Amino acid sequence: MTRVWRLDDGQQTLVLAAKADLLPQCMYWGRSLPRGEDLTALAAAHGLDVTGGMLDENPDLSLCPEASHSFPGQPGMILRDALGRGVLPRFRFEAEDSDGNNLRLRYRDADLGLGLAFRFQTDAQTHVITCDTALTSDQPVHLDWLAAPVLPGPQLSDEVMDVSGRWCGEFQVNRTPWSAGIRLRESRTGRSGHEHFPGLLIPARGTTNTSGETYAFHYGWSGGHRMLAEELQDGRRQIQFGHAVQTETAPGTAFHTAPLYITYSAAGLNGCAVAFQRHVRDRIVQMPKPDRPRPVHYNCWEAVYFDHKLPVLQEIAERAAKLGAERFVLDDGWFGQRDDDRRSLADWTVDPRKYPDGLMPLIDHVQALGMTFGIWFEPEMINPDSETFRAHPEWVLGPEGQILGRQQMVLNMALPEVQGYLYDRIAAILSAYPIDYIKWDHNRLLPAPDAAQTRGSYALLDRLRADFPLVEIESCASGGGRIDFGILQRTQRVWLSDSNDALERLRIQHDAALFLPGLVTGSHVGPRHCHTSGRVLDISIRAWVAAQRYMGFEMDPRELTEHEADVLTKVTTWWKANRDWMRRADILRLDSADPAVIAEQQIAEDGARFVVFAGKAATSAQILPRPLRLTGLDPAARYAVQLLNRDTAPGLSRGSPALKMDPLHLSGASLMQMGVNLPWHFPETMWVLEGTRLETAI
Ligand code: GLA
Repeated sequence: MTRVWRLDDGQQTLVLAAKADLLPQCMYWGRSLPRGEDLTALAAAHGLDVTGGMLDENPDLSLCPEASHSFPGQPGMILRDALGRGVLPRFRFEAEDSDGNNLRLRYRDADLGLGLAFRFQTDAQTHVITCDTALTSDQPVHLDWLAAPVLPGPQLSDEVMDVSGRWCGEFQVNRTPWSAGIRLRESRTGRSGHEHFPGLLIPARGTTNTSGETYAFHYGWSGGHRMLAEELQDGRRQIQFGHAVQTETAPGTAFHTAPLYITYSAAGLNGCAVAFQRHVRDRIVQMPKPDRPRPVHYNCWEAVYFDHKLPVLQEIAERAAKLGAERFVLDDGWFGQRDDDRRSLADWTVDPRKYPDGLMPLIDHVQALGMTFGIWFEPEMINPDSETFRAHPEWVLGPEGQILGRQQMVLNMALPEVQGYLYDRIAAILSAYPIDYIKWDHNRLLPAPDAAQTRGSYALLDRLRADFPLVEIESCASGGGRIDFGILQRTQRVWLSDSNDALERLRIQHDAALFLPGLVTGSHVGPRHCHTSGRVLDISIRAWVAAQRYMGFEMDPRELTEHEADVLTKVTTWWKANRDWMRRADILRLDSADPAVIAEQQIAEDGARFVVFAGKAATSAQILPRPLRLTGLDPAARYAVQLLNRDTAPGLSRGSPALKMDPLHLSGASLMQMGVNLPWHFPETMWVLEGTRLETAI
């Protein structure tokens, strides 16, 4: 007997099948199959031959491949009993529940007293399938590894794309050819991590941003994950995601993986990117006031660092408001005796030396300028030089004598007294002052990864959010060190990178859009002379790169020349005029024919308008710009396309390409197939094209 289950969302079909009572395998995942497909015949057709040097039957690549079933690759679970002896379960079918979008399958090993459950949830709007695996045990057991539902890797694919990075260099996409063996990545620093973003894309052969098949995965956990893409000797491929190994440090009777988000698209990498962007926007992030326009930020970090002086901050606030800022964020340096990064983390009381009358004089000033007020915390951290450490050295996570990170240690978030203390301190500040935003930082790596730490951080965030539901939170960890769908369930913005270098940011944003919508992706205009790269960039590219995402400023506005202030004010005004539709826009990465050009198109939900940002990151090899093909348009519709900033064309652009002179009126087909010819421009500049769909079709 074969058991079969089928999941559909209008874009993709996923078929599971199990021989009798054994664990199910994914038989098919891809483009939607016909409604009447005979799934038993499909399961039979999925069976492979056997030849020399093999077992007499192919062990199943099930949702949790079992070593006890002779599976030759990495198992989906590694378990030990209370005495530390390896346990090799043999699960058998117990029950299934399904209703419309949900499927839950339960299995049991009665001899060992273990239960295993898989859950799948489809979403016909976003086309992201959410799944997880849960394990229960009658007796406490040690769990070393538990994979979320294990899926086969596609065969018509030559490489996997995963994402690494570093401080000021997040979201670097790696392409690794498939070969026999394992591509294994593991984030063991206790955060989702700059170094291993928990995402994977598997393009089919020939896929580009705009066409071809792609399979995509994201593991929604902030405590560090493990991913493996393994090709077995027989040629089959498997993808596993779970918490980093051995991060469940205590024996237990119930464990579950984080949600694994998966999606298939036949519309190129963009098809998967858009599914994730929409899922984050519509299902993951909870905005306190969803219809409120996203306020333009001003963050004072790179202007004053720890040197807080009320009159200076007030003057900066005035200038920021004049440029268009709507929320003023007071960064690190306002609490304890925090004159540098060596002291006072965990002492969350306002520094009376810097703010003798508390924060109200600053907040009153900020509010009188029409801005709201946000504030920085780094709740999970403690400096050895702090009142809190002197009172509670036992609250620290990890051994004595551990290596410090930025002169700080980590609080043990699994301790209820630590959670209680932090809740009280943060709640006291939120209650005393009108604060609508927290920048929640996490600047060091854990001494050792521990899932209980992440659960403790989530619990604190959840409690604060329940009691202060109107306060928005931004996830920061030295820039983009804690970005994942788990933290985004509890926050509304991510600080993508500490790099405010517009050229670096252009690239980071482009690659982050494979997973993140613009709505949550913070991007600030940095100082003229970038503090982290040393590069000097023109205000125009700095402003437009920030305007591609959730815009803000982070330079000292006192450094701006009149021209710079003018450009920045104009771009900010443009962003405000467009932010409402851009909040729900899809970000589509364009297939740029010129590697020096990083280009994207943001298209409104109703397809009626779009904007193209074509950033010239470097000098091109050839003289003239290559045509840029647009995407996602209705081929039969007509569009008006205009070059918004054509007045910035330099004198060396001597010709008259049509776009430089007048708006183009062309069909979606020609814009997508012929592309547009942009005027010549210097490197380190950005062309901005606006498009609107015209009433009259071709
Ligand atoms: C981290 C953040 C910065 C800033 C500093 C403050 O490095 O990424 O944006 O908030 O901490 O110490």
